Amino acid sequence: MKRSITSSSWIIGCAIGVAIVFCGPSVASAAPAKDSCVACHSQLPDEYSKPAKLYPGDIHHRAGLSCADCHGGDRNDDSMNAMSPAKGFRGAPTKAQIPAFCGRCHSNPAYMRKFNPSLRTDQETEYFTSVHGKKLKQGDAKVAVCVDCHSVHDILAPSDPRAPVYPTHVAETCARCHADANYMKGYNIPTNQYALYEKSVHAAAMEGGDTSAPTCSTCHGNHGATPPGLNSVANVCGTCHVMNQELFEKSPHGPIFAKMGLPGCVQCHSNHEILAPRDSWVGTGPKAICVTCHVAGDNGYKAAKEISNGFDKLKSTYQKADTVLNTAEKSGMEVSNARVEMTNAHSDLIKARVAVHSFNAADVLKITNEGVATSQKAYEAGVAALHERDYRRKGLALALIAIVIAISGLYFKIRKMERG
Ligand code: HEC
Ligand code: HEC
Ligand code: HEC
Ligand code: HEC
Ligand code: HEC
Ligand code: HEC
Ligand code: HEC
Ligand code: HEC
Ligand code: HEC
Repeated sequence: MKRSITSSSWIIGCAIGVAIVFCGPSVASAAPAKDSCVACHSQLPDEYSKPAKLYPGDIHHRAGLSCADCHGGDRNDDSMNAMSPAKGFRGAPTKAQIPAFCGRCHSNPAYMRKFNPSLRTDQETEYFTSVHGKKLKQGDAKVAVCVDCHSVHDILAPSDPRAPVYPTHVAETCARCHADANYMKGYNIPTNQYALYEKSVHAAAMEGGDTSAPTCSTCHGNHGATPPGLNSVANVCGTCHVMNQELFEKSPHGPIFAKMGLPGCVQCHSNHEILAPRDSWVGTGPKAICVTCHVAGDNGYKAAKEISNGFDKLKSTYQKADTVLNTAEKSGMEVSNARVEMTNAHSDLIKARVAVHSFNAADVLKITNEGVATSQKAYEAGVAALHERDYRRKGLALALIAIVIAISGLYFKIRKMERG
């Protein structure tokens, strides 16, 4: 019984399908798919016509979806009945309903696969692990939902440089709320993250066009509480600064910071205002970070002093060699081999700055001493070139004198012959 109904509806379905296949294209080319929603809404006052005006630029429009795919209703009905709940019309969602409204499609892998198999379908579940999602569930309507970050009716792919979630725009998108002290009043958190981030090396790299530098959502997660695979935002730095992370974990600070609840990298570098580090941060001087915890006499203090001395020695030897090589080059001497040595010495300096994160003086000094030896070699090559220059200059002077004598001799000889 059941089976016969199923098969007869299958036959009807087939017949309709065949009709569409054969009549579809000609009907479609005669009149494009009807959309009463757009037709009527385009004529309405501001708030109600805005969606229709914006929508042609929306990624959903480009994917072939219409107003009714999100809002329900009947796009073939020209009357207000198009928006009858009986025709599945959902209206505009309230803020609290928005994640599920978008998630109806975006959390449905079978549906989304038909459009774009590579698109993730975990945004809604991830969202509810974030502070935004948790607070929304508790009834806080001031937190961000999907449309606060993506906009609505003019949603773009995140890879579109105009999108509010494109890496260079994310910080402004978050700042709309997080930098607005008035809006965030009542929450017990600072509103300076954007101002501090704008001063950071990361923001500078981003402005310079390096979209691999982190912005707010790189560290805090696009949707979830943290990026995938991290249990805490404080661990995010190591996903990019791999060497620093490895050294730090193996250093005496690794386990002790964890035990004391200090946030690793962030303890020394801060979280938002991450500045370009200076060698003066290591050591016992007024700008040194080490002395905020270590005091004269302890092992950390001693290590800080030794590392700092290592840097000083490498930099002064390097400087000395550089000056000599510059002079030699200006005198036209060939010192390109020594310049190669200098490049090696410079990369030792850079390596040593990474090695600081072992917080082990011997490990850092091994590298700085290598740089010192290389600089010293380059210095000696420079000095040899200058000796060579002096030697050549003396030779040149002698040759000049000889030539002058020869010319004078010739001159007198000629005069003598003329007089003769
Ligand atoms: C004949 C004109 C007309 C047609 C056709 C029409 N609308 Fe509307 N729509 C309106 C007017 C007028 C309003 C505002 C008054 C109201 O909410 O009843 C409105 C309101 C809305 C709202 C806001 C409702 C809310 O909850 O605030 C949505 C969403 C909407 N329309 C979507 C659609 C969609 C989707 C379609 C097509 C399936 C559609 N409309 C077709 C005239 C129309
Ligand atoms: C991708 C899903 C989606 C599509 C497609 C879509 N809307 Fe909406 N629409 C929403 C959401 C979500 C809201 C609620 C926005 C909010 O609260 O800020 C909304 C709100 C509205 C409103 C209430 C006023 C406003 O702007 O908040 C109207 C009217 C409306 N939509 C009409 C339309 C019309 C007409 C179309 C087709 C041209 C359309 N929508 C296409 C998701 C969609
Ligand atoms: C009716 C189903 C449906 C609803 C509801 C829906 N979307 Fe989409 N969305 C899609 C489809 C289909 C695509 C196109 C996928 C593609 O071609 O890349 C898409 C694409 C997107 C993209 C671009 C993804 C990319 O990387 O290309 C974003 C962002 C997006 N939607 C956000 C939203 C938001 C925010 C809402 C709620 C306001 C929403 N969507 C509601 C079906 C839907
Ligand atoms: C706090 C801001 C924020 C909120 C809230 C938010 N998104 Fe996103 N969304 C982003 C950012 C940032 C990206 C990634 C941009 C990139 O890949 O560079 C993104 C990417 C996406 C993408 C592309 C695929 C992907 O996962 O990378 C889709 C689809 C999407 N979001 C849908 C949603 C939906 C649906 C919701 C609500 C459940 C939502 N977003 C809530 C900021 C947000
Ligand atoms: C629509 C406004 C709005 C937008 C846009 C927004 N947020 Fe929020 N966010 C909030 C509110 C409100 C809270 C709740 C504050 C609280 O309870 O501490 C919050 C909480 C947070 C928290 C947790 C703070 C804590 O309590 O420790 C983080 C992290 C956060 N947002 C990051 C972001 C990032 C990153 C973006 C951009 C990708 C963003 N937010 C966009 C309003 C917003
Ligand atoms: C390089 C990584 C990184 C970037 C980029 C970043 N944050 Fe943070 N953020 C952190 C860390 C780490 C914390 C501290 C988290 C903790 O203590 O658990 C934090 C804390 C926060 C908090 C909690 C309140 C506070 O100030 O401690 C908010 C809100 C926040 N960030 C928002 C933002 C916004 C908005 C942006 C972009 C303008 C941003 N963050 C950029 C790493 C980052
Ligand atoms: C998404 C990758 C990424 C994450 C996550 C990240 N950074 Fe960076 N970081 C970069 C890039 C890219 C640069 C700029 C390139 C450069 O100048 O070396 C940079 C530069 C730096 C610099 C300056 C380096 C220099 O030599 O001037 C410091 C210090 C730094 N980051 C520390 C951190 C800390 C601390 C964290 C975690 C709170 C962090 N970074 C998270 C990618 C990242
Ligand atoms: C105990 C303090 C301290 C901690 C913890 C720390 N750093 Fe550093 N970091 C420094 C100092 C000091 C320098 C400057 C070295 C120099 O320029 O001579 C520095 C320099 C850097 C630099 C620039 C040099 C380079 O490696 O290119 C980066 C990047 C960096 N740190 C990332 C990190 C990351 C990532 C973490 C966590 C895994 C971390 N730091 C933990 C003190 C610290
Ligand atoms: C936030 C506080 C803090 C900062 C900043 C800090 N340290 Fe430490 N350090 C500690 C603690 C705590 C220990 C473990 C207890 C101890 O040995 O003093 C430690 C241990 C050490 C040790 C091992 C000492 C031993 O007895 O084996 C060395 C070496 C060290 N630190 C070097 C440094 C250097 C170099 C700097 C600056 C670049 C620095 N520390 C910055 C807190 C800090």
